[in-house]
Amino acid sequence: MKRKNLINSIRLLLLSTCVIIILFVTTIVIYAYFPGIFENKKDNDSYTIYKLNYDTYKLSNNEKNNEIKYGFELFQNTPEYIGPNNKYNNKVYSGNNLSCTNCHLNAGTKAYSAPLIGVNNRFPQFRGRENKMGTLKERINGCMERSMNGVVLPVNGKEMNAMISYMKWISRYAPKDGIVKGSGFLPITIPNRSVNLEHGEKIYELHCVLCHEKDGSGQKIIDSDRYLYPPVWGDDAYNHGAGMTRVITAAKFIKANMPHGIEFNEPTLTDEECYDVAGYINQKIRPLKVNPEIDFPDIKKKPVSTPYPPFDDSFSIKQHQLGPFQPIMEYYKTKYGIVKTK
Ligand code: HEC
Ligand code: HEC
Repeated sequence: MKRKNLINSIRLLLLSTCVIIILFVTTIVIYAYFPGIFENKKDNDSYTIYKLNYDTYKLSNNEKNNEIKYGFELFQNTPEYIGPNNKYNNKVYSGNNLSCTNCHLNAGTKAYSAPLIGVNNRFPQFRGRENKMGTLKERINGCMERSMNGVVLPVNGKEMNAMISYMKWISRYAPKDGIVKGSGFLPITIPNRSVNLEHGEKIYELHCVLCHEKDGSGQKIIDSDRYLYPPVWGDDAYNHGAGMTRVITAAKFIKANMPHGIEFNEPTLTDEECYDVAGYINQKIRPLKVNPEIDFPDIKKKPVSTPYPPFDDSFSIKQHQLGPFQPIMEYYKTKYGIVKTK
């Protein structure tokens, strides 16, 4: 009887050791083949803010909600309300027919396309371009004068107030400090070389021409001023003072958002490809921002990939447009202790 017990215990011990070993090996194998499996889950959780309800159509009609809805409309269908051919206002504010949502995708609610969730909590903020504290209204007008190649919206006008209401509404789940994962653009490794324009052209033909056309002019929606595929250069595109004309900014935007339809966690293009195609589109002709020389009263703070002078360094204009950017960044770090990322 005793012996039988002993044999049984030994069996049990062997069995449990086997089970433990099998479990251990499986865990190691899973880890080795899918290293991100556990972090990814956590990672996805912190992007849930982008999946919440931002549908203005679900709002009931009252004065406050109607202002939010108008803000959304302006953001989504900008040329119809303030564009060059609008029939809505007796004044034209934007100089092209882009919509805000063409760069701030899903009406400002897509991660890594400069989303505006939480934006009102991030302002007022220090702005290098003006070398002072800037308000959210001033920031919107920054995009009006550059990305939209237009003029400022009156700061207390109906349009500006509606945009602010919309941005506040989509920020209602954001933390108080406005810090939201996925703000701005996706970080990339900036190649330590100048842009290869020939490679950029190849990438454009392979991955972009289908929608943005050979001449960069995009495609309008039939019988409308709005674009199905917005222009990336030419008369109706963003002007040379816009953030998107900086190769580094455009490359980061492209990485997470183009070709249209991709998500940031499944990019189609490599960092090198984004860099070259961003350089390619930004070498093309586009409207010029007026008085670019008075941007950045403190020119030390100008981003390294701003395509126009003056600069506080002796690198060529070409190098500011097409890189390599690392030597310029290094110069500002050594000389002024300023760390530049764009
Ligand atoms: C051609 C592309 C483009 C268009 C069109 C555009 N923007 Fe922008 N916008 C940008 C870029 C680039 C930034 C800078 C993002 C960054 O700092 O990383 C920006 C930043 C902003 C910010 C600050 C975001 C933040 O997180 O600090 C606001 C607000 C904004 N834009 C509003 C608008 C509004 C409103 C419109 C339409 C009237 C508009 N933009 C149209 C490209 C564009
Ligand atoms: C399937 C069609 C499609 C393809 C392919 C595509 N885009 Fe776009 N692109 C769009 C659309 C649509 C928008 C506007 C986004 C929105 O409104 O949701 C856009 C917006 C942009 C913008 C910002 C708005 C503007 O016009 O300045 C840039 C820059 C851009 N695309 C560059 C590229 C580049 C570079 C490629 C190739 C790597 C590319 N796109 C491929 C459809 C496309």
